[in-house]
Amino acid sequence: IKKIAISTGGGDCPGLNAVIRAVVRTATLKYGWEVVGIKDGLQGVMDTTTKLIPLNRHNVAGFLQKGGTVLGTTNRGNPFEIQKEVDGKIVTEDISDDVVENIRRERIDAVVGIGGDGTMLIMNQLYQKGIPIVGVPKTIDNDLLSTDVTFGFDTAVAIATDALDRLQTTAASHHRVMVVELMGRYAGWIAMHSGIAGGAEVILIPEIPYDINKVAELINQRMKREGFAIVVVAEGAKPLGGSHSTLEKAGSSVERLGGIGYKVAAEIEELTGAEVRTTVLGHVQRGGSPTAYDRVLSTRFGVAAADLIHEGGFGRMVTLRGTEINDVTFEDAIENLKFVDPEGQLVRAAEEIGVCLGR
Ligand code: F6P
Repeated sequence: IKKIAISTGGGDCPGLNAVIRAVVRTATLKYGWEVVGIKDGLQGVMDTTTKLIPLNRHNVAGFLQKGGTVLGTTNRGNPFEIQKEVDGKIVTEDISDDVVENIRRERIDAVVGIGGDGTMLIMNQLYQKGIPIVGVPKTIDNDLLSTDVTFGFDTAVAIATDALDRLQTTAASHHRVMVVELMGRYAGWIAMHSGIAGGAEVILIPEIPYDINKVAELINQRMKREGFAIVVVAEGAKPLGGSHSTLEKAGSSVERLGGIGYKVAAEIEELTGAEVRTTVLGHVQRGGSPTAYDRVLSTRFGVAAADLIHEGGFGRMVTLRGTEINDVTFEDAIENLKFVDPEGQLVRAAEEIGVCLGR
């Protein structure tokens, strides 16, 4: 190995730059490799003049604290299905052979791909085509089964908890119900953790279809007792017997976010007569500097990814199991999502202190 490349794919996440920094420092200091960053997803390798940037221990200074990804990212970065506009129409094209050829032409001996399940799927396909590639898991949603924790989750929970703390005081002052919609398309991890940490009375998650009458009942009691209430709704939450509000609206997050929060708020207002306000926290949860926990996890993942390349562990993704860094094959990495267990300890603890999960 002489030269490696790093790419970030899918939605951004606090800690991405800390991973990049750790890969670069390990690659250069420990192994003496050259490192380039590929801008705007793996297909950026097609544009060698503007999208390949040299990375070294000096120009990654300050990356630890920096939010987002300095390499840029895209949700439309699948080289097997690149979307292009031709004569005003969107058409898809497979440019994966060109991507593979360019990686070889640039003498890139190995690639570190940082991304979520979608990115791992693409990287597995590129690995099958002969690209030596290792993965680092990323999502604020913490819903990848093969790793106990993903970086970005702790930061998202901290941001959401801060928002709930702030909403408590304004809710109490006005005797209102505050409905807060949080991210979590498939799994309710952010909603559960920040809901518990922020003292919500109701937490609605995709894993437990909610009965709005149960929610209204609890709000009525709470309004009589305390005069205000906080309701957390994960973006993917769905009513009992109803359809999934989020999954059906695939595509634009403009449509996706802000649907369920307003729906729940309107129903609570109608059923309880309370004054209700809605906050959709949205991408604030993904922005800004990572927490100390996420900086440490990102650093450990970055070091492990460089070590994996050194060991020739291609087609694998680094993971956290308990307190130890480990790795799994891409196939295992993408196999399943990790959901909140409706009968598990976390949900039980919430219910035992009187939080309503909508059932
Ligand atoms: O990382 C996943 C996620 O946080 C989801 O919870 C949310 O639906 C999504 O990102 C929104 O991302 P984007 O607007 O970039 O599609």
